Amino acid sequence: MSEPLLTVENLKTQFFTEEGTVRAVDGVNFEVNEGELVGLVGESGAGKSVAAQSIMRLVEEPGRIVDGTVTFDGKKLVDITETPDGRMEESDEMLSNREMREQIRGREIAIVFQDPMESLNPVFKVGAQLREFIELNREVGESEAKRIAVDMLREVGIPEPEARYDDYPHEFSGGMRQRVLIAMALACEPRLIIADEPTTALDVTVEGQILDLVSDLQERYDTAFLWVTHDMGVVAEICDRVNVMYLGEVVEEAKVDDLFHDTKHPYTEALLRSMPRPDQAVESLDPIKGVMPEAINPPSGCRFHTRCPEAREACKEFHPEYHDVSDASEAPHSVSCIKYEAVGYEDSDPLETEATGAFAGGLAEMRGDEGGGATGVSGGGADE
Ligand SMILES: Nc1ncnc2c1ncn2[C@@H]1O[C@H](COP(=O)(O)OP(=O)(O)O)[C@@H](O)[C@H]1O
Ligand code: SF4
Ligand SMILES: [Mg+2]
Repeated sequence: MSEPLLTVENLKTQFFTEEGTVRAVDGVNFEVNEGELVGLVGESGAGKSVAAQSIMRLVEEPGRIVDGTVTFDGKKLVDITETPDGRMEESDEMLSNREMREQIRGREIAIVFQDPMESLNPVFKVGAQLREFIELNREVGESEAKRIAVDMLREVGIPEPEARYDDYPHEFSGGMRQRVLIAMALACEPRLIIADEPTTALDVTVEGQILDLVSDLQERYDTAFLWVTHDMGVVAEICDRVNVMYLGEVVEEAKVDDLFHDTKHPYTEALLRSMPRPDQAVESLDPIKGVMPEAINPPSGCRFHTRCPEAREACKEFHPEYHDVSDASEAPHSVSCIKYEAVGYEDSDPLETEATGAFAGGLAEMRGDEGGGATGVSGGGADE
């Protein structure tokens, strides 16, 4: 098989705060192939957005990529080595900030955020913003850029695009604004679109329409997507392959069918039990027990051991190795859990955790958190 379009290796991004070092992304590995739709899923705070920002080199202060490599189409977007004395060395091959701005962002890789108002300026008309973006990135004149802009608005399902071209962002519904952002992302025909929870603030019907649109556009343009979401339902609907993130680490990766029907990691199982599934009639949902610990002082051993229903004493001690556990005849399926390693899990005593009742009563339910703070942005619940 040819080289993946995007390869992320041992990526580490940290925030240096007064409280301590937040290990937001802590040694993450994944790939996106040409034309593939790959999910990055996990609860709020797992490090999904920071991973997405790191690929684009858009991490904000006090954050810093401290280690790892991001290769896109042979180019090193990130190539940083943490030296033993704690310095970060950038390789000569790593693109400069200017190269990132002029060659990569918008042109080769576009990013769509959860909140369209982060990307659309409220005081300028939608069409003009789209046109300017196209002029800047595609080196075409004003009238050609306008023609492309109107075409793109039509393409993403905005009715009467010529008339809507002169509307301001606030005159669009949440769903329509998100369509405009998808138009903007597609306008330069990028090879990869990173979508960071772009449908989370929308109601389910509008979300469904946007997901249908994306599947359709993806087939037509053969654009690759990295789709960031906390919602397994979204993953099931559009992704080819998925990476599950927990507390700064990718803990499982597989094709979507394998992840749903041959789940390996107890965290993935818990996530699946906590969410409605389109492929199964579920009698009752079972929220994941406990809260995700702070990324400043992650738990020893397996980071999920404080909440894992299957945790044993050995899980506190051994940090699981992320590795492929598939047979030669199967698609790759990677997992990090010591159940799949020869380090004595079987002989170890069960561990009392938040999931086994030791902390029963008064547990914060992550699903509640997900539905609230993480998604409370403008445009929420807007309809079309
Ligand atoms: N600007 C920042 N300063 C300090 N910590 C941050 C900052 N941005 C993100 N973090 C921390 O990084 C971790 C990962 O956050 P994030 O990537 O936003 O999670 P997700 O997108 O999966 O919900 C969290 O612990 C979060 O608190
Ligand atoms: S290593 Fe232990 S605590 Fe971690 S997921 Fe596996 S069984 Fe659970
Ligand atoms: Mg996020």
